[in-house]
Amino acid sequence: MAFPTETVYGLGANALRAEAVAKIFAAKGRPANNPLIVHVAGESAARSIALHWPAAASKLASRFWPGPLTLVVPRGPRIPDLVTAAGPTIAVRAPAHPVAYRLLVTAGFPIAAPSANRSGEISPTTAEHVRKSLGDAVDIIIDGGPTPDGIESTVVDLTTSPPRLLRPGPVPLAILMDTIGNVETVNRQPDARQVPLPSPGMMSRHYAPRTPTECVEGSGFARVAQWQATGAKVGWLTFGEPAIGPPAGVDVIVMPRETGSYASRLYAALHELDDLGLDRIVVELPPEHDDWLAVRDRLRRAGTT
Ligand code: TXA
Ligand code: MG
Repeated sequence: MAFPTETVYGLGANALRAEAVAKIFAAKGRPANNPLIVHVAGESAARSIALHWPAAASKLASRFWPGPLTLVVPRGPRIPDLVTAAGPTIAVRAPAHPVAYRLLVTAGFPIAAPSANRSGEISPTTAEHVRKSLGDAVDIIIDGGPTPDGIESTVVDLTTSPPRLLRPGPVPLAILMDTIGNVETVNRQPDARQVPLPSPGMMSRHYAPRTPTECVEGSGFARVAQWQATGAKVGWLTFGEPAIGPPAGVDVIVMPRETGSYASRLYAALHELDDLGLDRIVVELPPEHDDWLAVRDRLRRAGTT
């Protein structure tokens, strides 16, 4: 079953049942060494599946839950190996979306849910995106409209000292540090053969459109014009209104200059361009500033060239 959260749509299964969780991996074509996030109704449910609940987890949960923050903590014995890729830690989050919350309360068990897309594709922010990506592999899709945050949750690992930011997201790094002190950012690309991966969402080919996509710093105009001159059909994802208008025949999506609205629009924009059958998508990166950490991270991963 797929359901909306405030970040992206999730593909859910009872996190306590290995047979149910196995179906998620099958439907997504997800490698078994990529662990899942377990969704819970609140902090007490999270504690019940963790081995220990670090002080930092309490601080973060009371400030950001329910919300787009995933905490990696020591794994408790109730969780099957498949969920954590047999690793000693578990990722948990209490989603704020009313549909997700209702579902968790009604189910009465924790729900393991990755983003509801085929592995390696762009995450879904509408029910239609889920249908397009998973087709018959998903039995039920609860349509809650477009997801408000639009990018996946921030993931922070609390089992290391200092804690590590495994995936930037809607909860900014500065605000995390304001709550629990120093948090290390992880830049290195993990070795894909490591089992389990430190956070396989960090594999470089992730969240990618099918259309060859390239990211540029500053104006994309020159690249767009170059590609067009070769006869290629080009899409242009701009950062704000372009200073020089698009060459005729180029498909343009003008993205907002405000982080929250940019993130909320991002995947739908990439899905739209990807559906046009273009030869090339040129993406203008937002400024290299901490405010744009999560968005730039997703855009670089969307880059296929
Ligand atoms: O916003 C979200 O987090 C969405 C919604 C549905 O909640 N879910 C999501 O799930 O993005 P997924 O599976 O697409 O991404 C989960 C990320 C992956 O990068 C995975 O490797 C990482 O979390 N992860 C899961 N368990 C982990 C663990 N025990 N240690 C480190 N990373 C973990
Ligand atoms: Mg995903």
